[in-house]
Amino acid sequence: MIREYETAVHYNAWSNPGVTCEEKMRVLRLDNEEITYAMAVSEEGYLMHVYFGSRVADEDDILYLLRIAESPYTPHHHLREKLAFMGTRPFEYPCHGIGDFREPCLMLMDADGMSAVDLRYKSHRIAEGKPQLRQKGVSCLPATFAGKNEADTLIVTMEDAHAGLTVELYYTIFRHKNAVTRAARITNHSYNDTRILRALSTCVEFEGSAYDMITLNGAWARERFLSRVPLHAGKQSIDSVRGESSHQHNPFLALVSGDASEESGEAYGFNLVYSGNFFAEAEITEHGNTRVVMGINPFDFSWMLRTDEEFVTPEAVMVYSDAGIGKMSRTFHDLYRENLIRGEWKDRKRPVLINNWEATYFNFDQDKLFGIAEQAAKLGIEMLVMDDGWFGHRDFDNSSLGDWVVYEEKLKGGLKPLVDKVNALGMKFGIWFEPEMVSEDSNLYREHPEWAIQIIGRELTQGRAQYVLDYSNAEVREYVYGMLRSILDSANIEYVKWDMNRQLTEVGSTTLPRKRQRELWHRYVLGVYELMNRLTTDYPQLLLENCSGGGARFDPAMLYFSPQIWTSDDTDAIERLKIQYGTSMCYPVSAMGAHVSDCPNHAVGRVTPFDTRGDVALVGTFGYELDVTRISEEDRNRIPAQIAKFHRFNPLVRTGDQYRLGNPFSDDCYDAWMFVAKDKSEALFTFVRILATANMPSITVKLHGLAPDRRYLCEETGQVLSGKAWEKCGIIIGVNRDFTSQTFYLKAI
Ligand code: DGJ
Repeated sequence: MIREYETAVHYNAWSNPGVTCEEKMRVLRLDNEEITYAMAVSEEGYLMHVYFGSRVADEDDILYLLRIAESPYTPHHHLREKLAFMGTRPFEYPCHGIGDFREPCLMLMDADGMSAVDLRYKSHRIAEGKPQLRQKGVSCLPATFAGKNEADTLIVTMEDAHAGLTVELYYTIFRHKNAVTRAARITNHSYNDTRILRALSTCVEFEGSAYDMITLNGAWARERFLSRVPLHAGKQSIDSVRGESSHQHNPFLALVSGDASEESGEAYGFNLVYSGNFFAEAEITEHGNTRVVMGINPFDFSWMLRTDEEFVTPEAVMVYSDAGIGKMSRTFHDLYRENLIRGEWKDRKRPVLINNWEATYFNFDQDKLFGIAEQAAKLGIEMLVMDDGWFGHRDFDNSSLGDWVVYEEKLKGGLKPLVDKVNALGMKFGIWFEPEMVSEDSNLYREHPEWAIQIIGRELTQGRAQYVLDYSNAEVREYVYGMLRSILDSANIEYVKWDMNRQLTEVGSTTLPRKRQRELWHRYVLGVYELMNRLTTDYPQLLLENCSGGGARFDPAMLYFSPQIWTSDDTDAIERLKIQYGTSMCYPVSAMGAHVSDCPNHAVGRVTPFDTRGDVALVGTFGYELDVTRISEEDRNRIPAQIAKFHRFNPLVRTGDQYRLGNPFSDDCYDAWMFVAKDKSEALFTFVRILATANMPSITVKLHGLAPDRRYLCEETGQVLSGKAWEKCGIIIGVNRDFTSQTFYLKAI
C-alpha cells in the first residue's frame, strides 16, 4: 500500500525504515543495514546524486559528502556561471538541452519541435514495500517485487513547468539485499502532444574513473562471454538494436574497482529488466568522473504522449558489493530467485527432462519420440520435451511457423495419444513453440501477410526463412494465443519452451498510425510480455522455459515470466564453462538451462567425458539432449547415477551461494566453483580440468564461503578440516586428463 505524502512546501522530514528525507540538508536517502543511496536537491530544484555505496547513514557523513564547502549543490550560480554548473554536476536524471552535455536520460520532441527538458524537484512521497510498476493501457511490466517489510520506496516527482511534464523517479531499496531499483514515469500534462525521444531508466554518477567495466558479449552459441576493461576517456557502451536483448550484448554492465577480484574490491552491477533494444554506457567526463546510464535504447525510439498519457521505463536493478565481484553476483542471484522469478516452479526442483532437438532435429515421429521416452523413463528421466517440428508440415526450418496445428504425418491422431502414452510411463510431457514468428510458407502468412512486421512496399528480409509477427497488434496476439491454448488444452502438457529465432528488420506495422510507427520496437516487447503473462496466469502450473536461438533472451524480464531460460545452443561442456561463468555474473544457476548432450558435440565437435558433461549441466536446470536409444551402452549406464547426483545436490546448487573459484576466460588449465548452503551446513565443490599439460604439478584450489570455525568432512577424501583451513589450504587436485571433472562434497560435522 502506498502512503501518499505530497509536500506543500518543497522539502519535508519524513522517514520510514529505509527512506529518510531531511529538509535541513535537502537530502533524500535510502539506506539498509549495509548500503546507502543518497541524493540532494539544489537551491534551484535540481536533483543531484550524492552517493551510492557502503552505508553512510550518519548525518555528519552525509553532510561531508555534500561538500558544502565546494557548494556543488547550492552553487553561487549567478546566472553567468550556470552553464559550468550544469555541465559538471552529478544529476540523478539528466536532461537534454539545458547545459549538461553528457549522456542524458531524457529528451523530447515537443509540439514546437523543441527537444530540451528541464526537470525540477516538485515533491516526494514514500511507500512501504514496492509498488507494482504499471503504465495505463499496458497489461504487464516485468519488475522485481517486494512485500511491505522487504523494501522501501521513494518516489520523487520532478516537473518541467514549461513543457507541462512530470517525471516520477521510483527508487526502491531492499531491506536485506544490497540492491536499489529505479524506474521513471513520464506524464504529459500539457494540452499538446509531445514525443519522447529518449527515456532511460537510471543514471549514477561516480567520483573518479578508476574502474574496470565488465560486460557480457558474444554471438549465437557464444553468449555472455565476459569482457573486463579499464574505463577510458569518452564514452563506452553496449546496446541492442535487434528488437531483443540479444546474443551480442546482455543488458548488464558492472563497474568494479581496478583491483576488484571475486572476493575483494568494490563492484557496482547494473541490469535492465527488459527484453528489447537496450543501451548501457559509462562515460568519463571532462573532470575525470564517470556517469553510467542504462535504459531502452534511444536509437530509433520515439513514443508519443498525448495529454494525460504516461510512459513508464523498464526497471534498472543496481547492486553494490564491497567484497568483490562474487558478492555482487550472489546479491543478484538472491534478488532474482526471491524477488523476480514467480510462480509454481520458483522454488522447486525442476523435472529432469530429455529434449529431442539434438537427438532428432526435425526427423521424428511419435514412434521415435516414444522410443526415446521409454528408454529415458527406465533411466530416471522425468519429462520428454518435444522440440521444433511437430506442427504444420514442418520437416525443416523453412515452413509452418504460425500454423500451430499438429503435423499428423508425424503424430498420428494428434498430441493426446502420444502424451497419454508418455504420461503412462510416469513422465511429464513438454512442447516447443515459437509464437512470435510466421514462416513465409504458412497458412497464417498466406491469409494474413499484413500481420508480419514490415514496411509496406519494401522487400522483407527473411531470417531462417521466417518473419516476425506484429505483436503491437492485439488481433495478432489474440489469434496466436488462441492457437497456443487449443494445443495446450488438447493434452496434458506441463512444460513449454518459448523460442524466438530471428531479430527484427523493416520495423513497421500495418496498423499503427504514422506518428506511432517508431513505437513498434517497444510495443512489440510489451506484446510479448502480455502473452507470456496471459500464458502463465491461465496455466499457473506450467513450467515455462524461455529461449531465443539459444540464449539471446537471457534477461531479467524473461525471468519474471519463466524460472529458467535456455542458456545457449552450444552444449559442449568446455564451451559451457565460459558461457555459464559469464551468465552467472548476474543470473542464478537455478535459471540456466543446461543439458548433457552427445559427443562429438554438435556445435564444436569436441569429445568430453560423459561425467564432465553431467557435472557441468548440474550447474543449471539439468537435463538431456541426445538420443538415449543410440548413445553407447557405457554412457547410457551412467545416466541413473548422474540423475541421482542431480537429485542429491540440486537443492544445494539451486538455493545455495555460488563461489567462482576459477576463471575460464583467463585460464585454460581449469575451472572450479562451489555452492555453499545458506546455513553453511554443506557445500559442493566442482573442478573441471580444461587442458592438462605433461609433468604438471597438482593444483590447489582454495575454498570460499564456509563457516571458518565449523569443521567439514570431505566425503571423497575423508579429511576433516575447519572452514578456515579449507579456505587457507584448499583442495588438492592431482594430475588428470583433458576435460575431466571431479566433485567434492563437504558436510559440517
Ligand atoms: C533454437 C533453440 O535454441 C534450440 O534449442 C531449438 O529449440 C531450435 N531453436 C529449434 O528450432
